[in-house]
Amino acid sequence: MSNAVGRTVLFTCVVLMACGQVTTTNTALVAVEKQEPVYRDPLYKKVNKQIMDNVYSGITGFGVVSPQEKAFIEKGYSTKKTSIYGEIPYDSLQVILDNERFGPNDIFYDLGSGVGKVVTQVYLNTPVKKAVGIELSGSRHAGAVKMLKNFKQTDAYNDRKRNGKTKRTLAFAQQDFLKANINDATIIYMCSTCFPPELMTGLIKKFQKINRQGLRIITLKVLPDYENNGFRFERSYKLPMSWSKQGNVSAVYVYSYVGDVFK
Ligand SMILES: C[S@@+](CC[C@H](N)C(=O)[O-])C[C@H]1O[C@@H](n2cnc3c(N)ncnc32)[C@H](O)[C@@H]1O
Repeated sequence: MSNAVGRTVLFTCVVLMACGQVTTTNTALVAVEKQEPVYRDPLYKKVNKQIMDNVYSGITGFGVVSPQEKAFIEKGYSTKKTSIYGEIPYDSLQVILDNERFGPNDIFYDLGSGVGKVVTQVYLNTPVKKAVGIELSGSRHAGAVKMLKNFKQTDAYNDRKRNGKTKRTLAFAQQDFLKANINDATIIYMCSTCFPPELMTGLIKKFQKINRQGLRIITLKVLPDYENNGFRFERSYKLPMSWSKQGNVSAVYVYSYVGDVFK
């Protein structure tokens, strides 16, 4: 983290504490000042949650799709559910980010990114070089674009544009993810709960073609026939989602590409 980021975090902490939105101890502030691994600092994540709440004010992916757009998204699939919306909450995604350790050379994609919250949180709370959301719905993509406009006006966005000498990217595209060029991906996330089997098969074939050792796929639905497609199951998480009833959780699976070792 650059000194500028450290100063901004510190300044934001002070402002938030003054507003009573964040309480902390001196130890946390000292950690930020000392430039210790900031992405692991609970205060840093708390401040970023507040930043996200601000830039997403009035922007939602729920209930914004018209019947025409729903039909457009679901066209061609046997299970007419692909347009259904749901989100991974900030704290649930953070469990994944804390454990998966995204690095400064990683290139992250969220396939079916809705209004882009996952991508924005990855940009804020990890050092990835590039974070991209791909979403077919025009109205949800418009939400992501509006948020990005808000976000670009903040110090938080501008401080994170660079990681040392490396320029970082946060971007959104309105596109069918099956047709998108994601060949530079090192980590792919998809909230695939409602994706039908033929879509999951199309996706794993696409991931296999990327042919990158170590490519990580983080998915709510298991990858079909993953070993024969060159993937190894690594681990899973059990996390609450936006649709979870009190106390319920959904599984999130992590796979990595290992090539043809299973053949
Ligand atoms: C369950 S939402 C996930 C939102 C976000 N990723 C999150 O976890 O907070 C899934 C999204 O996938 C989108 N989607 C479905 N099929 C798609 C396709 N072929 N290409 C791009 N997006 C698609 C839907 O419109 C929907 O917004």
